[in-house]
Amino acid sequence: MHGSPIQDYLEGLHGRFLGHVEGTVADYIPELATVNPDGFGICIATQDGHAYEVGDSRQAFTIQSISKALTYGLALELNGQDAVLAKIGVEPSGDAFNAISLRPRTGAPMNPMINAGAIAACGLVPGATPEEKIGRILDVFSRYAGRRLDVDEQVYRSESETGHRNRAIGWMLRNFSILESEPTVTLETYFRQCAIRVTCRDLAMIGATLANGGVNPVSGERAVAQSHVQDVLSVMATCGMYDFSGEWFFRTGLPAKSGVGGGILAVQPGRLGIAVYSPRLDAQGNSARGIAVCRELASDLGLHLFDAAQRTVPSIRLSSTRRRIASRRRRSPQADEYLRSAGLGLRLYHLQGPLSFASVEPVVRELMAHIRATECAVLNLRMVQGIDAATARLLASTHARVTGLGKALLFSESASWWQQLTEAGVPREAFFADDDYALEHGENLLLAASHAPQHSDGPVPLTGCALFNGLDASQLARLDGLLDSRSYQKGQTIMAAGQASDELLILRSGTALVSVPTQEGVARLAVFGAGMTFGELAFIDGSPRSANVTALEPVECRVLTREKFAKLDHDAPSIKIRLLENLALDVTGKLRQANRELSALR
Ligand code: DON
Repeated sequence: MHGSPIQDYLEGLHGRFLGHVEGTVADYIPELATVNPDGFGICIATQDGHAYEVGDSRQAFTIQSISKALTYGLALELNGQDAVLAKIGVEPSGDAFNAISLRPRTGAPMNPMINAGAIAACGLVPGATPEEKIGRILDVFSRYAGRRLDVDEQVYRSESETGHRNRAIGWMLRNFSILESEPTVTLETYFRQCAIRVTCRDLAMIGATLANGGVNPVSGERAVAQSHVQDVLSVMATCGMYDFSGEWFFRTGLPAKSGVGGGILAVQPGRLGIAVYSPRLDAQGNSARGIAVCRELASDLGLHLFDAAQRTVPSIRLSSTRRRIASRRRRSPQADEYLRSAGLGLRLYHLQGPLSFASVEPVVRELMAHIRATECAVLNLRMVQGIDAATARLLASTHARVTGLGKALLFSESASWWQQLTEAGVPREAFFADDDYALEHGENLLLAASHAPQHSDGPVPLTGCALFNGLDASQLARLDGLLDSRSYQKGQTIMAAGQASDELLILRSGTALVSVPTQEGVARLAVFGAGMTFGELAFIDGSPRSANVTALEPVECRVLTREKFAKLDHDAPSIKIRLLENLALDVTGKLRQANRELSALR
């Protein structure tokens, strides 16, 4: 890829280390001594699957000890954490990779990253033959890498012919019943597992899969259960670089694993997989140039996990109240005034990012700080990228506490998180399709708590319709004669988008929905109730209807046609002026509300 500053950076880094020739290639496995010592590739793969690569990033080499981390994950998945911990410890040994570090009485290897622990983990992969066992291992490694991997038969044979020390370890493990059967099958599998062929790019993708919770971000296939990803990364962090693990973590702050084939895999959990290939090794059997490159990269890009700058993203991206944001249900002037005055009782928060304890704690604190003056709070989850199980439980217990205080906590646009939250205990009735419906519910709760008389169901008289404000009795009587009456059944279309607009409707009873079709379904623009006027926009400027209007319940209207409105010009100009003033007030009221919402959303 060209034209990316990140690619430029990687090329610069590669260039700076081209002359780094410290160390020697592994030769205790004869076949490894034949590789080109100058091979050098770097690849960074992101948690969403984009790879930046430079140098020999596509050159194949054997995975060697990096395989230990993945086979450990497989052993955990197949046997469960307790059974694996009973056989293999998780303590850094501070010893070399091939040390026979077994606990004195039990014979359990200190950790799964040294050979003893890795051979024990390989023993926990079921299979009666090496072919059967390696088949399972290859399947899983291929899922991590996102492509089919294979074994380098020459390197396998070379190690099998010379791997006497590992055989000795195998028999020691058999002696302590850490391996429960004759160790040859496991050892031959282990030698093959070490000889699985990868490229630097594969390793970075394997890292990205770990960073992505165990799912390869390109193929979408799961390689390991999410619950074991943290187990794997933990032993990589504490033991992955053998007797260099402490200094490695101090310098880079990244869980990592090296192999004598020359590869290093490092992971920034939740974010990146990083791989370097350079086969000259230092005294500990880690790629010498790989370590130097990773140190510089981690420092240049600020990747250390304990970097104090890596704070939680604030999870509240919008905080507003009914003072500024309203549902699309139009209210009577009195109800509207009340809702605005009591507006602080209805609060809306838009949350963002991955929700964790640390990012949701300020939300819970904010909610509880206002809870006495709150009737209803709405949490919009549209921009949320993830909710961990503990946080889902925290949201459910917050919901229970708020409800217990006689208040409401609602969730809107939370389809992606619905299942997780209901399983954690949030009841279904707390979920609303969007802010509009949730706010409408909150407004209804505020109005119910106000104990103000709600208007009766009968048709409102003309004096109760905002369009006729300020007209005297004789003017009203005159208008009454001009207006047609019309009624609609529930569900009936009152106006359809595109129609000519030669009339204005005044709703006397029932409610009507103004909506437009969208790609996702239907967008609700407004819900009108008794006393309100609709169809005014097209009536004023003569354009075709821009939306559909449907009766949500039986509706009775009065209708003013354009023709009769025009005749008022010389029959009764004072009535016409008053109607125009009232229409202007209606439109400015709507515009003011739209402006309040726009500024709240900025
Ligand atoms: O067990 C062995 O000797 C090798 N097949 C793997 C060792 C290894 O990669 C050590 N790591 N740096």
